[in-house]
This record gives sequence, structure tokens and C-alpha cells, in this order.
Amino acid sequence: MKRGSEMSKTVNNTTVKAPRLISLFSGCGGLDLGFKNAGFDLVWANDFDSDAQAVYSLNLGEIDRRDILSVGEDEIPDGDILTAGFPCQPFSNAGNRKGVHDSRGMLYKECLRIIRNKMPKVIVFENVRGLLSTKYVDGRNLADVIVEDLSTMNDVGYDVVHRLLNASDYGVPQNRHRVFFIGVRKDLEISFKFPPKIPKHNLTLGNILNIPSNVPNQVDWAFSPQAMDMVTHIPEGGSWKDVPYEHLAPRFKKIRDNMKKYRSPNFYRRFSRNEICGTITASAQPENCGIIHPTQNRRFSIREIARIQTFPDTFQFIDDSAKDITAMYKVIGNAVPVQLANIIATAIMDQVFEGDCCQ
Ligand SMILES: C[S@@+](CC[C@H](N)C(=O)[O-])C[C@H]1O[C@@H](n2cnc3c(N)ncnc32)[C@H](O)[C@@H]1O
Repeated sequence: MKRGSEMSKTVNNTTVKAPRLISLFSGCGGLDLGFKNAGFDLVWANDFDSDAQAVYSLNLGEIDRRDILSVGEDEIPDGDILTAGFPCQPFSNAGNRKGVHDSRGMLYKECLRIIRNKMPKVIVFENVRGLLSTKYVDGRNLADVIVEDLSTMNDVGYDVVHRLLNASDYGVPQNRHRVFFIGVRKDLEISFKFPPKIPKHNLTLGNILNIPSNVPNQVDWAFSPQAMDMVTHIPEGGSWKDVPYEHLAPRFKKIRDNMKKYRSPNFYRRFSRNEICGTITASAQPENCGIIHPTQNRRFSIREIARIQTFPDTFQFIDDSAKDITAMYKVIGNAVPVQLANIIATAIMDQVFEGDCCQ
């Protein structure tokens, strides 16, 4: 699939080109698919992870494979909108919270470098909730720094709004909190409004786990024997708290011995068919996400987590080897749910680009 497809449509008898999207930190393409389905033209995407690249190119087209640090601004085509879900590990609540002191945190600066050169009409940043409590090197809140950096960019600046969204408020069968920053170039004089929440209809696991057998990628990453010993003692809707003490792995016994000190963590959550699933993470470990099937003693399959992340069944993943299978959990867990991305993309299309010819 070649880039620069020059998508277009006809409005009032005039042909208008689709807004061109520059995608940084594209991953396997969850965010990009949501934007593509809303009518954006993916003109350039980049990611240095070979697993993400393989899935992206299989489904969405070409992707630049370099480390973004080595990509010159002039090598990137112009665009009307730039999206960036810059790496979240340094900001993650589960991570070490080095935040912007971590070199990956500084990848935010790479976004600024490219925005300064391109000055697209719209900027979309997506990140984990932990970003909101991360301090910048000078002690300011990172979220305030982002708003200020963008609002003063190149003397034109962006009007920036940001909000913490729960994906399940936008039709995604998953409670997943992510913060979105939307910046609209100030000369357009548009103040972006986040789309309203939609009712949570049919989002429980029972609604999405019935997958026809001809849908591909229905393989799962086996639990270790120690994890499996715990899983078999957890009922539907339960957690590690249901596991008899003698079946706990040693590190869990230590925590069980002093639940108050460890604040009673909810490891090995096994969501029931009547519940909305918890966040699917890149590591897919039962300690930190609801990855256990409600009624079968196994992890969710690749296709099941893809459904929880609202990838369509036609989106293809790669499961030729055990290494591929663990890699798919990583790229899917890293993705923005397609449906959430699509709702945000549609709001941007309606509020900023509708009827506009993007030259
Ligand atoms: C949170 S994921 C993005 C997921 C994506 N938005 C989606 O919806 O599928 C962040 C991505 O940044 C990529 N990345 C991290 N550092 C990078 C770098 N220096 N250059 C290029 N890509 C990088 C990672 O490989 C990872 O796929």
C-alpha cells in the first residue's frame, strides 16, 4: 500500500482532499485506523518497533522504520494534523515514574521539533493517566508544560484542551483511562469540544467473547505453571484473593501476609461475563491487567484482546510463532482503542475540517 493516496470527496459539487495525517509513534495502528475510518489520509507513519511495523504494514500501509530521533523534519511530508502517542512507560503509574527524566520521556521534545517545522492545523497527543501527575524537570506539571509549549509555538500557537477519558464512555468494552491533548492552531479560531459520552450498551465481556471459529488469531499465550496454579482457583468475577494461601507464589504470600501495608492490591482479576473488562496492558500479565478469560483457565486470545481494544475482526495479527504471539499482546495492549480514536477523529473532522479543502 503506497502513501500519498490523495483521498478526496465531493462536497457541494467541489472535490475536497482529505486532511493529511502525520502519525508519530504509530504502533500497530489503533489510533491511525480510527482516524482513517473518519476520513483522514495517512500520509506518513513512523515506529521503530519491528512487531508494530509488521502489523501496521499488513493492515494500513507503509511505515517509516527509523528511530524518530534520526528522522529529519524535512524528510516528513506536510500534514494537516499530527498525532503522537509518545511512549507511555516513563509516565505510567505501573512504571518507575522517572517521567521526563527518563530519555523516553524526552521523546515529547521530538514531537515539538516536528510540530515546530510542520505547524499542522491540529495536534493530538495521547498518553497514560500518569502523565497528569508527572512533574517536568523544573518542577512544573508536565500537562501545564505541554499546554504552554504548544500555545506559544512559533508565535502562532495552539489552543489546547486536554481531558482524561475512559474508553468505556465511548463505546469501547474496556475501562481504560487515557489523557488526550487536542491543539487547534490559533489562527483557525476554533475551540475544540470533546465529544459527549455515549451510554454503555452491550460492553460487557459476555457481549464480545462469542467469536466465530473462522476469525483468525484465536490463539493465546499460555500461563506459566505457577500462574496457572493460581488461575484455576479463581472463580469468574474473582481475583487472587480467592486463591488458597498454599497455592500462592512466594511473592504473593509476602503481600497476603501484610495486605494493609501493600494496600490490598487486586492482582489476577478475572472479570465476569457481566462486567466491562479492565485495561489491557502491553505486558498482558495477570498481576496488572484483567487478562484471564471469565470461564476458561487461559489468557484471552489475541483476537479477544483485539476485540476488547475494538480492532475489527478483519484487522490481521501475526501468530506464526510463540515469539509473535507475545509480541501481539504487546502491540495490541499499547494501542489506542480504534473506536475511541474514531470518535475523537470524527469530532475533529466535524469541528475543524468539514467542508475545508486541505491543500
Ligand atoms: C503507546 S505506543 C503507540 C500506540 C499507537 N498510538 C496505537 O494506537 O497503536 C508507543 C510506540 O512508540 C514507539 N517508539 C518508542 N520510541 C520510539 C522512537 N524513538 N522512535 C520511533 N518509535 C518509537 C514504540 O515502538 C511504540 O510502538
